[in-house]
Amino acid sequence: MENGDTNLSCASCHQPDKAFTDGLALSTAYSGSEHFRNTPTLANVGRRAAWFHDGRLGTNLNDVVRESLTETYFMNMDMRIMQERLKQDPVYVDMFQKAGKGEPSNGGARSAIQEFVKSITSSGAPFDTGNMSVSAKAGFELFKGKAGCAVCHAGPRFTDDNPYNIGVPENPNPDRHVTFITYAKFMGIENYMNLRRDLGAFVRDHRQESAGKFMTPTLRELTYTAPYMHNGMLASLEDVIDFYDRGTRDYVHWLSVKRRKAIWPIF
Ligand code: HEC
Ligand code: HEC
Repeated sequence: MENGDTNLSCASCHQPDKAFTDGLALSTAYSGSEHFRNTPTLANVGRRAAWFHDGRLGTNLNDVVRESLTETYFMNMDMRIMQERLKQDPVYVDMFQKAGKGEPSNGGARSAIQEFVKSITSSGAPFDTGNMSVSAKAGFELFKGKAGCAVCHAGPRFTDDNPYNIGVPENPNPDRHVTFITYAKFMGIENYMNLRRDLGAFVRDHRQESAGKFMTPTLRELTYTAPYMHNGMLASLEDVIDFYDRGTRDYVHWLSVKRRKAIWPIF
């Protein structure tokens, strides 16, 4: 699906050979603007309980597809133009007819994209098939045991779909500040003109304790999805492990204050 000026498609940022990411620390956006967050993988994304790094959409994927298409800091597409373009393309007319959907329409296009996105699943890894190497097995013991990773990166998708502040440093980028301000204004954040830090999940409930929290990402297809974190601040998996080794806010909280033992869920 193309954007307003036909320069971008979903796949410009969600590239299949990079597990549907783009290899950039911070994503691009509609011509003339650039995004202030890292493009997340779409692996198993249909199964998430909430979407985007701040978890701001939690009802259905249709909203996510709509926002990706229409938002100025994504594809800036006018749905009416989209529908007309589809109607004028014999390939799409034929595809819609064959799918029993009649004439190309906005709703039909969004539901087709949604169904496609749901079909992007990750399975058959050594973890799933029981073919992990000896050192990977030792790593998993640490992951669900002493290191406590599985408290948040829980279950076969390796996420509990909840936001935490694990203390990732800001990635201030003047080029992207306009996009950031637009988003913050749209999210109803007070004093957005003076805002210098990404408040993350604050936009969900406007509670101070949610500020700086970001959704636990899946760890599926991880070797293809660098750079890491909502703002691409960590370039490699080595950097991620160093980061956790130094100890971060919620991480230390989980491990030492609550002394909560990570229990790997049965699945
Ligand atoms: C310009 C780059 C870009 C384009 C084009 C783009 N996306 Fe994204 N996508 C992103 C970024 C960046 C995020 C994270 C945004 C955030 O957290 O606020 C995202 C998030 C998502 C998510 C949520 C992932 C999650 O784990 O929460 C889905 C689903 C998604 N995009 C699907 C699409 C679809 C479908 C299209 C085409 C209609 C599309 N995207 C076009 C960059 C892009
Ligand atoms: C308190 C919950 C929590 C714990 C415990 C935790 N993580 Fe995370 N993890 C997160 C959150 C939240 C993010 C995303 C932060 C962001 O985007 O700024 C994240 C991000 C990551 C990423 C980057 C993924 C990506 O696609 O960007 C990796 C890799 C990762 N964690 C591995 C681990 C490992 C290994 C451990 C154990 C040493 C661990 N995590 C412990 C919550 C947690």
